[in-house]
Amino acid sequence: MKRTHSCGGLRLAQAGHEVHLAGWVSGRRDHGGVIFIDLRDREGVTQVVFNPALAPEVSALAHGLRSEFVVQVTGKVSPRPEGTKNATLTTGEIEVLASGMQVLNPSETPPFPLDEEGVNEDLRLRYRYLDLRRPAMAEALRARHRAALAIRHYMDQKGFYEIETPVLFKSTPEGAREYLVPSRLNPGKFYALPQSPQQFKQLLMVGGTEKYFQIARCFRDEDLRADRQPEFTQIDIEMSFIGREDIYALIEGLVQRVWKEVKGVEIALPFPRVTYREAMETYGTDKPDRRYGLKLADLTEVFRNSSFKVFQSAVVAGGVVKAFNAKGLAVITTGQIEDLTNLAKSHGAKGLAWIKVENGEWKSPIVKFFSDAEKKALTDKLGVEEGDLILFGADQWVAACEVLGLVRIRCADYLEKLGKLKKDPAQLDFHWVVDFPLLRKDPEHPNMVASHHPFTAPVEEDLPLLESQPEKVRGQHYDLVLNGVELGGGSIRIHQGKLQDKIFREILKLPGDIVQSRFGYMVEALQFGAPPHGGIALGFDRLMALLLGHESIRDVIAFPKNARGQDVMSGSPAEATTRQLKEIHIKSETIPGA
Ligand code: AMO
Ligand code: AMP
Repeated sequence: MKRTHSCGGLRLAQAGHEVHLAGWVSGRRDHGGVIFIDLRDREGVTQVVFNPALAPEVSALAHGLRSEFVVQVTGKVSPRPEGTKNATLTTGEIEVLASGMQVLNPSETPPFPLDEEGVNEDLRLRYRYLDLRRPAMAEALRARHRAALAIRHYMDQKGFYEIETPVLFKSTPEGAREYLVPSRLNPGKFYALPQSPQQFKQLLMVGGTEKYFQIARCFRDEDLRADRQPEFTQIDIEMSFIGREDIYALIEGLVQRVWKEVKGVEIALPFPRVTYREAMETYGTDKPDRRYGLKLADLTEVFRNSSFKVFQSAVVAGGVVKAFNAKGLAVITTGQIEDLTNLAKSHGAKGLAWIKVENGEWKSPIVKFFSDAEKKALTDKLGVEEGDLILFGADQWVAACEVLGLVRIRCADYLEKLGKLKKDPAQLDFHWVVDFPLLRKDPEHPNMVASHHPFTAPVEEDLPLLESQPEKVRGQHYDLVLNGVELGGGSIRIHQGKLQDKIFREILKLPGDIVQSRFGYMVEALQFGAPPHGGIALGFDRLMALLLGHESIRDVIAFPKNARGQDVMSGSPAEATTRQLKEIHIKSETIPGA
């Protein structure tokens, strides 16, 4: 069953040659007895012509061809007649005049047309094997393969070993909920699937490996979104005897290589650095999209003694007043203002004050409380003009920034739909966000929690503050951000067992038995001459989605889960039999018989 060429390979140079092709029928047209089919394989599409005047028997057979039949075709390459060339196809200058054809396998009628956009995603996922035949999906898989190869070559050149680490592991403290796997051989005990290879890669450093990388599968039982999957892939990296700058340089080179090899795009280095504080102050997020403005301003001093009590009392309580100018968005509808308010409230805000500037007037439920001096300060700080919409947040610093950060993103979407703002996907705003606080307050925790993970080393000069003012200590953590998406994150690690133990017990205030049972071996390992080390993990799915301009990482994964964590093709997750449950020593009240 041979083919001489792919369906994307024929050009005018092959005119007159006899060729064999194989692929899927992607379209069939009957022009007065002459049948045209588009024959598709993963490399492209070639037009095949069945002309009864030239090959009566084969042409009669061609009448029976339907979409997605698999066929093998023999024929002569011929230049297309003038006026029928197709510039959108790489093979658009030729066609193949069929002299032989064999149906290798017929097909049921596909449940959706493979050449249409906008097909319901669950339907696509239900028949993913058909969806993968679409050129965009084939391109995603090809690009992903090429990126993985480029990464492996680059890391090898830099002296890294690719090392696999276990998938059956135990609980890892990285914030997300874990998937548990019951152990048949150890009744009542569970493995956990790793959220990342974090602890193993550190142990590899203790083991003297020095430079490790892995294209690693990670598992997190999180609420899913467009950029989150329950299982996803990291480009995971760790190295010894280095500082932050070494990681920045390594990753910048890696990203440059991938964009160059897969997209042919040259990325300028080095990437700028933005402090966490600056990112939050200006964009209300630690992963800013800086391709557009709508920057937040601080108005705390303006409203410190205001007669508008909502703002004044927030300041008295040690909080801030922040605002931004959604330039040109005074045309916003009442419904949209309500949506913005609900967005703010769903993230803990008490409200979302606003001002619209229309017909020279400030329209707003709160402006009657403002003094002339306050209005003037607002106008100056935010450049208020006709047609603008101003939005406010008054709260503790982090909360006010974060809420306005979300409102800013939503306003940018509104403005983009109105054609007043453009987020250019070709503009690649890579930057590092640095100087994160080591610890943060968590409403669900009595004590402070690690901002990243508890293995992150504090910035050396902040160490004396660890006990007295832990909230002021910066971590040696860094995130790589591209166009508002967190592509990756990592840190220099704590490599002294004593300091690691102290962080667990005295700073995070974990009970001694928990420290021992969950992390005892990590603390112990660090006491046997652990080298100074650090690393990073890039989200490979996010990287591919950004590289190829897809909104969702599902479009760059061969077999993703849907937003409910299901594989609708195979029907997983699925029930287990009572026998299976018994074998793994699971009793259940919700499963009959178990
Ligand atoms: P972190 O938790 O920041 O760090 O993860 C690193 C990167 O992985 C990607 N990512 C995800 N992608 C898809 N679906 C998900 N559910 C998901 N969760 C995370 C993101 C993120 O930036 N062990 C540390 C790294 C280190 O310190 O070296 C870690 O996992 O792009
Ligand atoms: P109120 O006096 O609570 O009715 O609020 C007056 C206006 O201020 C309303 O538009 C609220 O949405 C808004 N608002 C209330 N609390 C806050 C806050 N903390 N930050 C920003 N706006 C607020």
